[in-house]
Amino acid sequence: MYSSACVSMENLAGKNIVLGISGGIAAYKTPELVRRLKEHGANIRVVMTEGAKAFITPLSLQAVSGNAVSDSLLDTEAELAMGHIELAKWADMILIAPATADVIARIAAGMANDLLTTICLATDSPIVVAPAMNQQMWHSKATQHNIATLQERDVTIWGPGAGEQACGDVGLGRMLDVPELVTLVKDYYASASSKGILKGQHWVITAGPTREAIDPVRYISNHSSGKMGYAIAVAAKKAGASVTIISGPVNLDKPQGCDLISVDSAVDMHESSINLAPAADVFVACAAVADYRVANVAEHKIKKTSSNDNMTIELVKNPDIVASVASLPNKPFTVGFAAETQDVEQYAKAKLARKKLDLICANNVAIEGQGFNSDNNALTLFTENLEIALPFASKSELAQRLVTEISTLIAQ
Ligand code: PMT
Repeated sequence: MYSSACVSMENLAGKNIVLGISGGIAAYKTPELVRRLKEHGANIRVVMTEGAKAFITPLSLQAVSGNAVSDSLLDTEAELAMGHIELAKWADMILIAPATADVIARIAAGMANDLLTTICLATDSPIVVAPAMNQQMWHSKATQHNIATLQERDVTIWGPGAGEQACGDVGLGRMLDVPELVTLVKDYYASASSKGILKGQHWVITAGPTREAIDPVRYISNHSSGKMGYAIAVAAKKAGASVTIISGPVNLDKPQGCDLISVDSAVDMHESSINLAPAADVFVACAAVADYRVANVAEHKIKKTSSNDNMTIELVKNPDIVASVASLPNKPFTVGFAAETQDVEQYAKAKLARKKLDLICANNVAIEGQGFNSDNNALTLFTENLEIALPFASKSELAQRLVTEISTLIAQ
């Protein structure tokens, strides 16, 4: 599995990264992380918390980074060399990996009680956090609240990943692996440099659920919030595209600068999509469209009767919007989503082929904390020949990475 962006996008030459290491078992991976980032041209200065030194020595990190390691706010000699303010100014990015629940809480609280948290307060550079902790600690209300606070302040969260943990628990909480983190750093700079790369392009994006009326007061729908589709619209707009969202009913504000067409049913969404798609460069079908609609919508509210305990509603198939777009003679680059709860890869690849898509974004919606109506998600992108993993992150972060990947694919 690899990222196409890392093949074609700029490397990290000249990027100054402060790597903040806090006290978790995943700290043992950081010399490898430093090595890989340096291989791609980054300059690394390591800042360690007291806890981190229980897991890995400053000497190891000094050796691999080629720079003195900073670990104290009150060290007069260190302050003479490169003090905390200079470090904060020097950094193009503060990457905290592993980020323990404790360091996340302290940054969220705006504390400055050690060198790392002080640098976070003193910098105007992007801060990225790669959480690593026990799965119960990750799911705790306090940690989730702190993560939400950091996200509100535009701190980027990478991970955590799922799997077996050092304590024997299984679940979300592992620090992402070094290759994943390196790819994320590279994609981060690639998407930062992607501002304007979609200039002149028109993107049409479907988002949210559809509502299929049963009678004037009832409908069939699903849990889609529209967050994923709207995040893609924002990312495409930021990258310079003109964007039209065709949206089912959601509780989201219209993203600034995007056009919005509000629809209810799959048939309405189909009509708007077929009207707009021929003039679009990219069509992204992120909406959760009802596969079936009610055959005969009742004119008046259906009344409960005492004679019938059961009720049967006949459904008929809705048009497949993304498949219709992909079969247009002048079709745009067509991207579908696959929301699956099992055999994700197999079902996603089958949809890619059956609907004749250029790209499909698979998400496992059975995993708690991602997918429908969540702020976070994880995607695997499939084309006929490529597989690209976009690990668990905020929908806004994923959308930026997805836009970068699509722009790379259409440029080929
Ligand atoms: O909206 P959020 O709460 O942020 O959640 C995001 C999401 C989970 C809805 C999103 O990431 C997602 O997976 N969207 C697609 C959901 C879905 O309907 O998947 P599907 O596997 O049933 O459909 C496959 C593809 O065909 C999708 O691109 C869908 O838009 C499209 N489709 C489906 C049926 C239909 N009649 N017309 C279509 O165009």
